[in-house]
Amino acid sequence: MGKSLTRKIIESHYVKGSMVPGEEVFIKVDQTLTHDINAVMTYLAFEAIGLDRIRTECSVSYLDHNLLYVNNMTPDDHIYLQSAAEKFGVHVSRPGNGICHTVHVSRFGAPGKISMGGDSHTPHGGSIGMLCIGVGGMDVATAMTGVPMRLKMPRVVKVNLTGELKPGCNTKEIILEMLRRVTIKGGLGNVYEYVGPGVAKLEVPARATISNMGAELGATTSIFPADEQVHKFLKAQGREEAYVELLPDEDAEYDDCIEINLSELEPMISCPHQPDNVMPLKDVEKRKVQQVFIGSCTNASYADIAKAATVFKGHHVNENVSCTCAVASKQTYRELMRDGYVDILLQAGVRMLEIACGPCCAIGQTPATNGVAVRTSNRNFKGRAGNPTADIYLVSPESAAATAIMGTFASAEDVMGEDVKELAKITEPEEYLIDDSMIIKPLPIEEAKKVEIVKGPNIKFLPIPEAPQQHLCVPVSLKTLDNVSTDDITPASAEFSSMRSNIPLMSQYCYHRYAPDFAARAKEMGRSIIVGGENYGQGSSREHAAINPMYLGVKAVIAKSIARIHKGNLVNHGIIPMLFADPSDYDKIDQEDELEFNNLLDQIPTRKVIVTDKTKGFDFEVNLDLSDNEVEVVLSGGQLAYLKKQLAEQEKQEA
Ligand code: F3S
Repeated sequence: MGKSLTRKIIESHYVKGSMVPGEEVFIKVDQTLTHDINAVMTYLAFEAIGLDRIRTECSVSYLDHNLLYVNNMTPDDHIYLQSAAEKFGVHVSRPGNGICHTVHVSRFGAPGKISMGGDSHTPHGGSIGMLCIGVGGMDVATAMTGVPMRLKMPRVVKVNLTGELKPGCNTKEIILEMLRRVTIKGGLGNVYEYVGPGVAKLEVPARATISNMGAELGATTSIFPADEQVHKFLKAQGREEAYVELLPDEDAEYDDCIEINLSELEPMISCPHQPDNVMPLKDVEKRKVQQVFIGSCTNASYADIAKAATVFKGHHVNENVSCTCAVASKQTYRELMRDGYVDILLQAGVRMLEIACGPCCAIGQTPATNGVAVRTSNRNFKGRAGNPTADIYLVSPESAAATAIMGTFASAEDVMGEDVKELAKITEPEEYLIDDSMIIKPLPIEEAKKVEIVKGPNIKFLPIPEAPQQHLCVPVSLKTLDNVSTDDITPASAEFSSMRSNIPLMSQYCYHRYAPDFAARAKEMGRSIIVGGENYGQGSSREHAAINPMYLGVKAVIAKSIARIHKGNLVNHGIIPMLFADPSDYDKIDQEDELEFNNLLDQIPTRKVIVTDKTKGFDFEVNLDLSDNEVEVVLSGGQLAYLKKQLAEQEKQEA
C-alpha cells in the first residue's frame, strides 16, 4: 500500500520512536512561529534554557494580535519580543504586517516542511502541503533548541472532496460541514488529509480556511497536497523555488475516510456557543444582528474580502448593525485597495480596522449586552468576543456581508439573487504585491550577541513548577462542566492579553468569568486539584491556561477527557493530567472534597493511579494518557527542568 502525504512528511523528519498511530514518535522541526500574546513566556523559557541562538531553519516572532496599546504593557512586550528575537536569531514580523498564519504561509512556508507554532491555528500552513502543528509556548521554546519534538503518531483520515462549490459558498462551508459531522472532539489524534477531484480547484488561501479551522475539530492538524495550486500560489508570492510537488500515493493507506460532495453544500452557520453547533444558514431562526466582523486568519484573504465587498456593492450596512473588517495582511490590504474593494467597503459603511487579529480574540469590538454578533472567525465560545452575554455565530465572509446588509442572518444569494454567480469569478491575484519591509531579518551571530534584551516593568518571571511528590493530599479547588475552553480558564481581550507577561497579576483572573472566586480559593488552599468534564481545555493553545493554575498551586487536573494541546501544556508546566478510568466517578466528587494520592511517584510510570476521596470515603482509579517521554517530563517537574537535564547530558556527551 502507498503512503499518505502526512506519513511521507513524518518519515522524512523521523528521528526515533514508533510510527504506529497513538504511539510516540520524535521528529525534527524545521520552523516555528510565535505571536505576541503568547510569546513572552516562550522567549523567557528560551532565555532560561541558556542557548545563544535558535537551532531551527527559521523561526518567526509575529507581533500581530494585541496592537491596541491601551497601556504600557503591550508595547513593552513588543519591545521585549523584538529584542529577544534579535538576540536569538529569530525573524520579526512587525505590527501591521499581518496575522501570523497568513504571513507565514505567504512568506516563509514551504511544502514538506514541519512547523510548530504557539497558536492552535498553526495548521493554517497545511494549505501548502506543510505539516503544521499548534503547540504550547514551552514546546516552541523546545523546538527552537533543535531537539527532536515528541508527537503522538496521528491517525490519518482521508477527506475526499468531489464536486464544486456553488457561487456564494466559501470553503468555510466545508470546514463547518466537517465540524457538523466530526464534532469538536471527534478529531483528537487525527490528521485530516484533503484529497480528491474537488481539491484541485481550491486556491491556497481558500484551503487555508479549512486547515486553519481544522483546529476546532481537536485534530493534530490538517493538510492539502502540494499540487499545481500550491505552485501557482508560491509563484505569485515570488517564491517559486520553495515549491516541490508533494502528493499522497494513489493507493495511499488511510485510517478512515470522509466523503464530501462540494456541489451539495449550501451556506452554513455555526450557532452559539460551540463551533460544531452547525446548521444550514437558511434553517437558523432569524434574529436581529447588532454586529458583524469580517476578518481573522481564517477568512480574510484577498478573495474572501473581495467577495464580501462584491456582496456590498450598491448596498449599505444596515443601520442597526456595526460592521467591521480586518484584512489579514498588509499585502492583501494593498491589493484590495489597488483593485477598488476597500473603497466599496468604505462606501457601504464598513469600518476598516487595523491589520491584526483584533476582534477575533476580543481585542476590540466587544458585542453589546445580550448582543448577537456574526463573525467570519473560528470560535464562538461564550465570552470569546469579550462579553459572555453575547451570542456569536460563525459564517463565511459572503454570508457575513449579506447579514450586515439585511440586519439578520442572510446568504449572498439572498442579497444578490442570480448575480451571486459573479462571486465565482473572483480569484486570488496572479501576482501578489511583495513587500517584506515589515519583516526584520536575523542579525549575524556576532552582532546578535551584543544585543541587550529589554524588559519593561510588566515582564515578570517564568514561574517554575515543583516536581511531584510521593504523597499528595489536597482539596478540589474547582469542579467544571464539559467543554471548558482555555478562554474560560484564561480570558482573551486587550485587558487580559496584556497581562500575560505578568503571571502574579494574571493568575488573579484565572477562571475570572467561569468561576470568579476560583483564584482566591485556590490561593487560600495552597495546593489543590481541578476536576473537569469532557474536552477540558479545548480551544486556543494558550499555555497561560496551564501556567496560571500552576502558579495558584494546582497539582493535577482529573477530567473525563483533556484537549490535546492543553494536555501538553499541563505536562510542560508541572500539572499532572489525569483521566477518570470510570467517568461516572466524576459525579461522585464535589468541589472542596479532599483527594489523597499515595506512592504517587511509583504510580505515575504505571499510568494508573489510585485516588482516595477522603471526604466521601471511596477510592477511584485514574489513567495517565502519557507517553514515556511525557512521564519523564512529569517526574522532572515540567519541560524546562527536563530540557535542561537533556541539554546538559547532550553537552557532556559532546565534550
Ligand atoms: Fe487567528 Fe484569531 Fe488567533 S485571527 S491567529 S484565530 S486570534
